[in-house]
Amino acid sequence: MRSDAVFIALAVVFLAWIAALSGWMFLRRRFPTRLAAAVITLAMISIVSDARGIAHWLRARRSEVTIDAIRRGAWWQLIYRDGRTAFVTANEMHVPAGEKVTINGRLMLFDEACVVGGRLRVIPERDFDRWFRNEASPARADAFLFTNAGCAWCHVIRGVAEHPSQLAPDLTHVAARRTISCTDLPVRGGWLAGWIASSRALKPDSAMQPNRLEPRALFAMVRDLESLR
Ligand code: HEC
Repeated sequence: MRSDAVFIALAVVFLAWIAALSGWMFLRRRFPTRLAAAVITLAMISIVSDARGIAHWLRARRSEVTIDAIRRGAWWQLIYRDGRTAFVTANEMHVPAGEKVTINGRLMLFDEACVVGGRLRVIPERDFDRWFRNEASPARADAFLFTNAGCAWCHVIRGVAEHPSQLAPDLTHVAARRTISCTDLPVRGGWLAGWIASSRALKPDSAMQPNRLEPRALFAMVRDLESLR
Protein backbone atom coordinates (compact mmCIF):
# COMPACT_ATOMS: atom_id res chain seq x y z
CA MET A 1 0.00 0.00 0.00
CA ARG A 2 2.83 2.36 0.80
CA SER A 3 4.30 1.93 -2.70
CA ASP A 4 0.85 2.78 -4.16
CA ALA A 5 0.79 6.03 -2.17
CA VAL A 6 4.31 6.90 -3.39
CA PHE A 7 3.26 6.12 -6.99
CA ILE A 8 0.13 8.30 -6.70
CA ALA A 9 2.15 11.20 -5.21
CA LEU A 10 4.79 10.95 -7.97
CA ALA A 11 2.11 10.70 -10.67
CA VAL A 12 0.37 13.83 -9.33
CA VAL A 13 3.68 15.74 -9.23
CA PHE A 14 4.52 14.59 -12.78
CA LEU A 15 1.10 15.54 -14.18
CA ALA A 16 1.25 18.94 -12.42
CA TRP A 17 4.73 19.50 -13.86
CA ILE A 18 3.53 18.58 -17.39
CA ALA A 19 0.52 20.92 -17.02
CA ALA A 20 2.73 23.79 -15.81
CA LEU A 21 5.28 23.17 -18.57
CA SER A 22 2.62 23.02 -21.29
CA GLY A 23 1.01 26.23 -19.97
CA TRP A 24 4.37 27.99 -19.95
CA MET A 25 5.16 26.78 -23.51
CA PHE A 26 1.74 27.81 -24.74
CA LEU A 27 2.08 31.32 -23.30
CA ARG A 28 5.60 31.71 -24.66
CA ARG A 29 4.57 30.17 -27.98
CA ARG A 30 7.28 27.54 -27.72
CA PHE A 31 6.41 23.99 -28.73
CA PRO A 32 8.14 20.74 -27.71
CA THR A 33 10.17 18.77 -30.21
CA ARG A 34 8.48 15.66 -31.61
CA LEU A 35 10.68 13.41 -29.51
CA ALA A 36 9.84 15.24 -26.25
CA ALA A 37 6.14 15.18 -27.13
CA ALA A 38 6.31 11.41 -27.79
CA VAL A 39 8.10 10.73 -24.47
CA ILE A 40 5.59 12.82 -22.52
CA THR A 41 2.64 11.11 -24.23
CA LEU A 42 4.03 7.64 -23.48
CA ALA A 43 4.65 8.57 -19.83
CA MET A 44 1.09 9.84 -19.51
CA ILE A 45 -0.37 6.67 -21.07
CA SER A 46 1.67 4.57 -18.65
CA ILE A 47 0.48 6.62 -15.66
CA VAL A 48 -3.16 6.40 -16.72
CA SER A 49 -3.01 2.61 -17.20
CA ASP A 50 -1.25 2.10 -13.82
CA ALA A 51 -3.76 4.42 -12.17
CA ARG A 52 -6.59 2.19 -13.47
CA GLY A 53 -4.90 -0.84 -11.89
CA ILE A 54 -4.56 1.01 -8.60
CA ALA A 55 -8.19 2.16 -8.68
CA HIS A 56 -9.18 -1.48 -9.24
CA TRP A 57 -7.04 -2.52 -6.27
CA LEU A 58 -8.58 0.18 -4.04
CA ARG A 59 -12.13 -0.85 -5.00
CA ALA A 60 -11.56 -4.59 -4.31
CA ARG A 61 -13.00 -5.90 -1.05
CA ARG A 62 -10.55 -7.01 1.62
CA SER A 63 -11.10 -10.61 2.69
CA GLU A 64 -10.81 -11.52 6.36
CA VAL A 65 -8.84 -14.58 5.35
CA THR A 66 -5.11 -14.71 6.00
CA ILE A 67 -2.86 -17.44 4.66
CA ASP A 68 0.58 -18.41 5.92
CA ALA A 69 2.45 -20.46 3.34
CA ILE A 70 5.43 -22.23 4.87
CA ARG A 71 7.91 -24.15 2.77
CA ARG A 72 8.74 -27.54 4.31
CA GLY A 73 11.41 -28.99 2.03
CA ALA A 74 9.61 -30.25 -1.09
CA TRP A 75 6.05 -29.51 0.12
CA TRP A 76 4.10 -26.53 1.45
CA GLN A 77 2.16 -26.19 4.65
CA LEU A 78 -0.72 -23.71 4.38
CA ILE A 79 -2.34 -22.20 7.47
CA TYR A 80 -5.69 -20.46 6.89
CA ARG A 81 -7.33 -18.13 9.41
CA ASP A 82 -10.37 -15.88 9.21
CA GLY A 83 -10.67 -14.59 12.78
CA ARG A 84 -12.95 -17.28 14.17
CA THR A 85 -11.72 -20.30 12.22
CA ALA A 86 -8.27 -21.71 11.57
CA PHE A 87 -7.13 -24.85 9.83
CA VAL A 88 -4.07 -26.34 8.22
CA THR A 89 -3.88 -27.75 4.72
CA ALA A 90 -1.09 -28.38 2.22
CA ASN A 91 0.32 -27.88 -1.24
CA GLU A 92 -2.64 -26.35 -3.10
CA MET A 93 -3.52 -22.76 -2.31
CA HIS A 94 -7.10 -21.60 -2.83
CA VAL A 95 -7.87 -17.87 -2.93
CA PRO A 96 -11.08 -15.95 -3.67
CA ALA A 97 -11.08 -14.14 -7.02
CA GLY A 98 -11.25 -10.34 -6.92
CA GLU A 99 -10.66 -10.01 -3.15
CA LYS A 100 -7.54 -8.88 -1.35
CA VAL A 101 -6.17 -11.71 0.80
CA THR A 102 -3.23 -11.51 3.18
CA ILE A 103 -0.57 -14.05 2.23
CA ASN A 104 2.48 -14.18 4.48
CA GLY A 105 1.65 -10.70 5.79
CA ARG A 106 1.25 -9.10 2.32
CA LEU A 107 -2.05 -8.11 0.76
CA MET A 108 -2.51 -9.73 -2.65
CA LEU A 109 -5.24 -9.59 -5.26
CA PHE A 110 -5.92 -12.31 -7.84
CA ASP A 111 -8.50 -11.58 -10.46
CA GLU A 112 -9.10 -14.35 -12.88
CA ALA A 113 -11.38 -17.16 -11.82
CA CYS A 114 -9.01 -19.73 -13.21
CA VAL A 115 -6.50 -22.35 -12.24
CA VAL A 116 -2.95 -21.10 -12.36
CA GLY A 117 -0.42 -23.89 -12.72
CA GLY A 118 -2.62 -26.28 -10.71
CA ARG A 119 -1.18 -25.25 -7.32
CA LEU A 120 -2.82 -21.85 -7.00
CA ARG A 121 -6.55 -21.94 -7.50
CA VAL A 122 -8.30 -18.62 -7.88
CA ILE A 123 -11.99 -19.38 -7.51
CA PRO A 124 -15.19 -17.30 -7.30
CA GLU A 125 -16.00 -16.03 -3.81
CA ARG A 126 -18.99 -18.34 -3.28
CA ASP A 127 -16.95 -21.44 -4.19
CA PHE A 128 -14.14 -20.22 -1.97
CA ASP A 129 -16.52 -19.89 1.03
CA ARG A 130 -17.78 -23.43 0.41
CA TRP A 131 -14.22 -24.73 0.08
CA PHE A 132 -13.20 -22.89 3.28
CA ARG A 133 -16.09 -24.35 5.33
CA ASN A 134 -15.36 -27.84 4.04
CA GLU A 135 -11.63 -27.59 4.78
CA ALA A 136 -12.33 -26.31 8.31
CA SER A 137 -14.51 -29.34 9.07
CA PRO A 138 -13.09 -32.63 10.39
CA ALA A 139 -12.61 -35.63 8.12
CA ARG A 140 -15.22 -38.24 7.40
CA ALA A 141 -13.05 -41.34 7.41
CA ASP A 142 -12.15 -44.47 9.22
CA ALA A 143 -9.11 -44.18 11.49
CA PHE A 144 -8.29 -47.84 11.77
CA LEU A 145 -6.13 -48.45 8.69
CA PHE A 146 -4.51 -45.10 8.86
CA THR A 147 -3.28 -45.43 12.43
CA ASN A 148 -2.49 -49.14 12.02
CA ALA A 149 -0.28 -48.54 9.00
CA GLY A 150 1.75 -45.94 10.88
CA CYS A 151 0.65 -42.95 8.75
CA ALA A 152 -0.55 -41.09 11.85
CA TRP A 153 3.05 -41.06 13.03
CA CYS A 154 3.60 -38.18 10.61
CA HIS A 155 0.21 -37.11 9.19
CA VAL A 156 -2.80 -35.41 10.74
CA ILE A 157 -6.33 -36.25 9.64
CA ARG A 158 -8.47 -33.95 11.77
CA GLY A 159 -11.13 -35.83 13.71
CA VAL A 160 -9.30 -39.12 13.08
CA ALA A 161 -5.64 -38.86 14.00
CA GLU A 162 -4.23 -35.65 15.42
CA HIS A 163 -0.92 -36.35 17.09
CA PRO A 164 1.86 -36.49 14.53
CA SER A 165 5.34 -36.73 15.93
CA GLN A 166 6.78 -35.62 12.59
CA LEU A 167 5.63 -32.88 10.31
CA ALA A 168 3.89 -33.94 7.08
CA PRO A 169 1.04 -32.59 4.93
CA ASP A 170 -2.36 -32.48 6.65
CA LEU A 171 -4.48 -35.14 4.92
CA THR A 172 -7.93 -34.18 6.30
CA HIS A 173 -9.24 -33.28 2.83
CA VAL A 174 -6.40 -34.56 0.69
CA ALA A 175 -8.72 -35.93 -2.02
CA ALA A 176 -10.13 -32.42 -2.55
CA ARG A 177 -6.72 -31.41 -3.87
CA ARG A 178 -5.95 -31.88 -7.55
CA THR A 179 -2.47 -33.34 -7.41
CA ILE A 180 -0.29 -35.26 -4.98
CA SER A 181 2.21 -33.11 -3.07
CA CYS A 182 3.17 -30.50 -5.71
CA THR A 183 3.51 -33.09 -8.50
CA ASP A 184 1.26 -33.41 -11.56
CA LEU A 185 -0.14 -36.76 -10.38
CA PRO A 186 -3.86 -36.92 -9.59
CA VAL A 187 -4.91 -37.80 -6.02
CA ARG A 188 -6.52 -41.12 -6.86
CA GLY A 189 -6.24 -44.84 -7.55
CA GLY A 190 -2.94 -46.22 -8.76
CA TRP A 191 -1.19 -42.89 -8.36
CA LEU A 192 -1.97 -42.86 -4.65
CA ALA A 193 -1.05 -46.52 -4.27
CA GLY A 194 2.29 -45.87 -6.02
CA TRP A 195 2.87 -42.80 -3.88
CA ILE A 196 2.27 -44.68 -0.63
CA ALA A 197 4.46 -47.62 -1.64
CA SER A 198 7.32 -45.51 -2.99
CA SER A 199 6.79 -41.76 -3.15
CA ARG A 200 10.37 -41.16 -4.24
CA ALA A 201 9.81 -43.16 -7.43
CA LEU A 202 7.25 -40.46 -8.36
CA LYS A 203 8.93 -37.43 -6.78
CA PRO A 204 12.65 -37.92 -6.20
CA ASP A 205 12.96 -35.26 -3.48
CA SER A 206 9.92 -36.47 -1.52
CA ALA A 207 10.49 -36.58 2.23
CA MET A 208 8.11 -39.54 2.69
CA GLN A 209 9.76 -42.90 3.19
CA PRO A 210 8.44 -46.04 1.38
CA ASN A 211 5.59 -47.91 3.13
CA ARG A 212 5.31 -51.67 2.87
CA LEU A 213 1.65 -52.65 2.88
CA GLU A 214 -0.09 -55.84 1.80
CA PRO A 215 -1.85 -55.22 -1.55
CA ARG A 216 -5.28 -55.59 0.07
CA ALA A 217 -4.45 -53.13 2.86
CA LEU A 218 -2.90 -50.77 0.31
CA PHE A 219 -6.06 -50.62 -1.83
CA ALA A 220 -8.29 -50.25 1.23
CA MET A 221 -6.02 -47.38 2.30
CA VAL A 222 -6.34 -45.77 -1.16
CA ARG A 223 -10.15 -46.01 -0.93
CA ASP A 224 -10.05 -44.33 2.50
CA LEU A 225 -7.81 -41.55 1.23
CA GLU A 226 -10.03 -41.02 -1.83
CA SER A 227 -12.98 -40.46 0.49
CA LEU A 228 -11.19 -37.55 2.22
CA ARG A 229 -12.88 -34.82 0.20
C1 HEC B 1 7.82 -40.63 8.40
C2 HEC B 1 6.73 -39.74 8.08
C3 HEC B 1 5.62 -40.21 7.17
C4 HEC B 1 4.88 -41.37 7.26
C5 HEC B 1 4.98 -42.49 8.30
C6 HEC B 1 3.92 -41.30 6.20
N1 HEC B 1 4.07 -40.16 5.48
FE1 HEC B 1 2.94 -39.53 3.92
N2 HEC B 1 4.10 -37.88 3.70
C7 HEC B 1 5.17 -37.56 4.51
C8 HEC B 1 5.79 -36.36 4.00
C9 HEC B 1 7.00 -35.66 4.62
C10 HEC B 1 5.08 -36.00 2.85
C11 HEC B 1 5.40 -34.84 1.91
C12 HEC B 1 6.30 -35.43 0.85
C13 HEC B 1 6.96 -34.41 -0.07
O1 HEC B 1 6.31 -34.01 -1.03
O2 HEC B 1 8.11 -34.06 0.23
C14 HEC B 1 3.99 -36.96 2.70
C15 HEC B 1 3.01 -36.90 1.72
C16 HEC B 1 1.91 -37.74 1.67
C17 HEC B 1 0.80 -37.58 0.77
C18 HEC B 1 0.59 -36.45 -0.22
C19 HEC B 1 -0.06 -35.28 0.51
C20 HEC B 1 -0.47 -34.14 -0.38
O3 HEC B 1 -0.62 -33.04 0.12
O4 HEC B 1 -0.63 -34.34 -1.58
C21 HEC B 1 -0.05 -38.63 1.00
C22 HEC B 1 -1.37 -38.90 0.29
C23 HEC B 1 0.54 -39.44 2.03
N3 HEC B 1 1.72 -38.87 2.42
C24 HEC B 1 -0.03 -40.59 2.53
C25 HEC B 1 0.56 -41.39 3.51
C26 HEC B 1 0.00 -42.65 3.96
C27 HEC B 1 -1.28 -43.28 3.46
C28 HEC B 1 0.84 -43.13 4.92
C29 HEC B 1 0.73 -44.42 5.67
C30 HEC B 1 0.72 -45.64 4.89
C31 HEC B 1 1.93 -42.17 5.06
N4 HEC B 1 1.72 -41.14 4.18
C32 HEC B 1 2.98 -42.30 5.95
C33 HEC B 1 5.59 -38.23 5.64
C34 HEC B 1 5.11 -39.45 6.04
